[in-house]
Amino acid sequence: MAFKPFDLTGKVAVVTGGNSGIGLGMAEGLAAAGADVAIWGRNADKNAAALERLKAHGRRAEALAVDVSDEAAVVDAMAESLARLGRIDCCIANAGVGGGAPLTEQTTEQWRKVTTVNLDAVFWTFREAAKHMVARAEEGDKGGSLLVTSSVSAIHGAPQNQAYAATKAGVLAMVRGTAVELARHGIRANAVLPGWIATEMTERLQKWDAFNEKAIGRVPMRRWGEGEDFAGIAVYFASDASTFHTGDSVVIDGGYSI
Ligand code: NAI
Repeated sequence: MAFKPFDLTGKVAVVTGGNSGIGLGMAEGLAAAGADVAIWGRNADKNAAALERLKAHGRRAEALAVDVSDEAAVVDAMAESLARLGRIDCCIANAGVGGGAPLTEQTTEQWRKVTTVNLDAVFWTFREAAKHMVARAEEGDKGGSLLVTSSVSAIHGAPQNQAYAATKAGVLAMVRGTAVELARHGIRANAVLPGWIATEMTERLQKWDAFNEKAIGRVPMRRWGEGEDFAGIAVYFASDASTFHTGDSVVIDGGYSI
């Protein structure tokens, strides 16, 4: 059979925070390329709407109501995703939250809210997916792809952003260590770093003229990114086109960081 590097037929992907924005763009890309996809999200209505869009691609799709800030819920959701779809070839830890305050006013509670979803939950998600991938590799079926949505905030400073930036930089280190540790099983781990993307997370900024002028005006592509702009990178990292690509951080920001 001819090698089809971006064909995901027969592969299964899990996308956390897959019911909106970047995660939904990734999930739709995966389904369009032939993967069966499970999305995890907190909001039942948004899960149902996203599921309709995924099913339109003719693949198996599942939506699970999960709060990833609860470790037990992550463990259960990975087991449930496996039970429903049979295997997991690609796991994308994309769920994330923003939120910040001036450093001198920031509370531990605010810090924990961000770090639990953006860092702890990525660890839990990667760990549970890796258990399955490693067990499969030990039976001779090597491979698997872990991907996390980081942010250009991991490399650029911004005010009132300590917790968010720390988590987004933290996952880059997590990815590099995971890549080295799991390479012998053929499992790779990578990160994608979005720039300014028009999603619910940035709704307030999108309506702010001065921000559009200053920040988006600095983006060489001269526009906000969209969820769909992340379909391609998800397909690439889920597919056999990327089997030797691991431990990397890929910036997708319309040139903002150049
Ligand atoms: P969004 O608000 O549309 O999506 C966030 C997703 O995470 C939603 O599906 C939401 O349900 C999920 N989520 C949040 N907390 C959760 C929890 N406790 N349990 C389960 N799911 C939870 O925003 P967007 O922009 O699509 O965010 C996706 C990722 O992209 C996040 O990790 C975010 O930090 C990252 N990002 C976004 C950028 C932007 O400009 N929009 C820039 C750089 C990174």
